[in-house]
Amino acid sequence: MEYQPPGIEPQDLLPASVPVQEPRSAPDPHPDLVPLSFLLGRWQGAGVGGYPTIESFRFGQELSFSHNGKPFLIYTSRTWLIDEDGKPGRPLGTEAGFWRPQPDNGVELLLAHPTGITEIYLGEVTGTRIELSTDIVTRTASAKEVTAGHRLYGLVGADLAWAYDMAAVGQRLQPHLSAQLKRVSAA
Ligand code: HEM
Repeated sequence: MEYQPPGIEPQDLLPASVPVQEPRSAPDPHPDLVPLSFLLGRWQGAGVGGYPTIESFRFGQELSFSHNGKPFLIYTSRTWLIDEDGKPGRPLGTEAGFWRPQPDNGVELLLAHPTGITEIYLGEVTGTRIELSTDIVTRTASAKEVTAGHRLYGLVGADLAWAYDMAAVGQRLQPHLSAQLKRVSAA
């Protein structure tokens, strides 16, 4: 007989013939999301990066902030190299995570990177500006040594600007990336 986790009988499982339906209408944002709601949507733009140990570069970026009615934002970012002719090139960093608003304009940010690193940030929302510092950075045995991060996000006019400083590979906390993005669609 096929293995079943304890407590689940075969008849409790959804028969394959039953279509799985998505909820029909998009839920309203959870009220706790109000301080972060200016982030909602899809953003695209470009930025610059560098570090004492690497060549400087330009990159394109797409960010998405969405919600499912619960009190957190769902976040993804992908980036790609912009070459000297301004053409899009190879994929660069990608990251995904959750933004969790807290009382008194606090925010917790959980991020995972395919480079074997995860970060937990604690931050503060002041109007349309968010400043975050890492509480913890964890990494797999094969990941590069990253020990701390600092991020700023804020509206500059209608654009979303952001900057990332890191302490890594034996270097003190200093800029790695900054970018400016335009909203290309609502949440
Ligand atoms: C999300 C956007 C990011 C972009 C566009 C980006 C881009 C780059 C590039 C182009 C390099 C040079 C090596 C290469 O060509 O791959 C690099 C190196 C590096 N990045 Fe990033 N990065 C991003 C995010 C991050 C984040 C979030 C972290 C840390 C959590 C990070 C940590 C590092 C480290 C440790 C190095 C290696 C430095 C060295 O070995 O000297 N990067 N990054």
